[in-house]
Amino acid sequence: PLPPPYQVPLPIPRTLGPAGAGRYEIVQREVIAEILPGVRTPLWTYDGTFPGPTIESRRGRPVTVTHRNELPVPTVVHLHGGRTPAGSDGYPTDLVLPEGWAGDAEHGSGHGSGHGAGHGSGHGAGHGAGHGMHDPRAVVSELTRDYAFPLDQRPALLWYHDHRMDFTAPAIWRGLAGLHIVRDDAEDALGLPAGPRELPLMIADRAFAADGGLAYPALDPALRERPGVREPYLAGVLGDVILVNGAPWPVHEVDAARYRLRVLNASNARHYELEAVADDGRRLDLVQVGADQGLLAAPVAHRLLPIAPAERYDLVVDFSGVPVGGRVRLLNRLGSGRTRDVMAFRVARRAADESRVPGTLAADLPVWRRSDAVRVRDFAFRTGRMHSGHGWLIGGLPFDPARTDVTARLGDVEVWRLIADVHHPVHLHLVGFRVLSRGGRPPLPHDAGLKDTVSLRPGEAVEIITRFDGYRGRYLFHCHNAEHEDMGMMANVEII
Ligand code: C2O
Ligand code: CU
Repeated sequence: PLPPPYQVPLPIPRTLGPAGAGRYEIVQREVIAEILPGVRTPLWTYDGTFPGPTIESRRGRPVTVTHRNELPVPTVVHLHGGRTPAGSDGYPTDLVLPEGWAGDAEHGSGHGSGHGAGHGSGHGAGHGAGHGMHDPRAVVSELTRDYAFPLDQRPALLWYHDHRMDFTAPAIWRGLAGLHIVRDDAEDALGLPAGPRELPLMIADRAFAADGGLAYPALDPALRERPGVREPYLAGVLGDVILVNGAPWPVHEVDAARYRLRVLNASNARHYELEAVADDGRRLDLVQVGADQGLLAAPVAHRLLPIAPAERYDLVVDFSGVPVGGRVRLLNRLGSGRTRDVMAFRVARRAADESRVPGTLAADLPVWRRSDAVRVRDFAFRTGRMHSGHGWLIGGLPFDPARTDVTARLGDVEVWRLIADVHHPVHLHLVGFRVLSRGGRPPLPHDAGLKDTVSLRPGEAVEIITRFDGYRGRYLFHCHNAEHEDMGMMANVEII
């Protein structure tokens, strides 16, 4: 029995307390949670909750997060949007092994693993050693692992999630996702809504089985099939329950004032088109102040905002024109029936509001011109045949950890032309990029700012421009439809 919409209060994920100066500890473990009222749902979690605890960081202050894996399967942690050295970026075969997990020979090829098959080194130390391209220091498999993040980057809403090769989609679905917010003094000084008037909103759809568990239909229960997504679920797995911060269609009491909404689409495959609709049918402006990689140069107002998996939008919504007692629903125009509802805000009281949305937000946005680019590359994101049947390919090839797909020089500016058959949200690790064109036309209003994920619409070609800046090493780009990712739609960028 699903709860009626807008009854469950919006949870705010707790902020993780440090275990020492710049040090955090997260235990990945299974818990039973109550997501639907009165229903017990087993989850895989970061530190006991879904979403995991939020890490609050300051720009340029490095943090180390120690993850301990008490789950029954290997995991990999990736900080999405992080400007992270390759060794801590969570390469899909850099596993954190659970207790008693036998490293088998197949770990070396990176093609997943049979559960408990064989007894090798006991902790997978030989993993990945067969590839000349691997940096041996980056291939460590233990029960715990330290991920070091310099966080020398623009303030932004990042998120951390599982990234294990072939099994990312089911792991995120079961709960392995959390937020990591980077801030700095310049952003604090803008006067954007803050404190209780800044709300992180992790939107994710899920489906529930009759026994209360999360229903993930695409996974072979024996884990024998590789990848973890079976061919009938090639398009991606959708749920019929919309969760925000882990609660179904929640409601949040607000002042009649401006709020800053840090929205993340953490769904495996579902796209949304968000609109904020008041009781009288009036649509409120969603004033965008930031994109995936931080503040825009200037605010952009939207009435309808498309958001693809892994994209983030930093929005300011002004509830001051809504009568006390009134309600504003956040709706998904792409949904039908219950997936049309997302969450609601109930205006509880009049209140003073000192916040502002300055006309100039940031002056540090990189501007790269086409003429700066030393190279133009083309990538087609399409379905096709792979080792285990049908899958998703980039440039005609399924992911292979042993193959370098792109070699880029540190410091070079490049233009990438991405073309899609169906919807593909394309994500590039390490660097942010600007959208140069979409379908041969100028970018759309929601393409503004510095992005790390861009939504390719069916049949569409999108050009992006970036500078390979930061660190040398092996990074990824891939489709962030999590099922597409597990079905091969991922490639390696070696930065030299
Ligand atoms: Cu959000 Cu490579 O991932
Ligand atoms: Cu895709």
